Amino acid sequence: MDGRKPYIAGNWKMNLDRSHALDLIKTIKGRLGDGNDREVAIFAPSVYLADVSAVAQGSPLGIGAQNFHFESEGAYTGETSANMLREVGADRVLIGHSERRHIFREPNDWSGRKVRKALDEALLPILCVGEKLEERQANRTERLLRRQLDAGLCDVQPEEMRRVTIAYEPVWAIGTGEVATPEQAGEAHAFIRKWIHNKLGPEAAELTRILYGGSVKPDNIRGLLAIEDVDGALVGGASLKPDSFIPIIEFDQ
Ligand code: 13P
Repeated sequence: MDGRKPYIAGNWKMNLDRSHALDLIKTIKGRLGDGNDREVAIFAPSVYLADVSAVAQGSPLGIGAQNFHFESEGAYTGETSANMLREVGADRVLIGHSERRHIFREPNDWSGRKVRKALDEALLPILCVGEKLEERQANRTERLLRRQLDAGLCDVQPEEMRRVTIAYEPVWAIGTGEVATPEQAGEAHAFIRKWIHNKLGPEAAELTRILYGGSVKPDNIRGLLAIEDVDGALVGGASLKPDSFIPIIEFDQ
């Protein structure tokens, strides 16, 4: 990990009722140390953010949203602005998650506008990238990643990469129980770091954290974090219960 602080993020997606959500935040908060040796964050449904961030207050637990709109305000029914997220206590946001891209047909170029807006509004973005199974089978993984990185980071300065995280989530590994092999994850992460090196310079490449996502579980977290260029994990299903999420946060114990 070369000095990059490990980052474990839970993406709850559209799960949990309010009382389970608050209980889970309390449990995670109680198990977090001082946050010096790892960064932990939860990406909660927007309607819970105010309550969840109130519970998390006073701890190093980061609280983020799963999506937002890149415009500041206006006639965008059903959308949430960056400023609204900040007002309810979120300090970070997911951008371009594969479910946003594929189920909700979010255009690739929106991710760049969202990364720019997040940075301008002091939200820490996690830009999600990753190929579908047919793209991997057609040997198009790198081409696809390049396209998503070109769009997502089109308007970012090298020094701003300190605040940007990338999550590599192969779509075929999300919610399927099928995790990328160390070789597949290693190759994709190395490709992403090389892209950052070429476009934004060696310093940006060195400091940017690249998370792996897709069927991360307590029994595979250690192996994943041992892969060069894997700096953390973006966890879906296993972030919904203390029994599975706490051992992931405490991967080294
Ligand atoms: P799973 O961990 O459930 O495969 O989900 C991964 C994911 O999409 C996290 O954003």
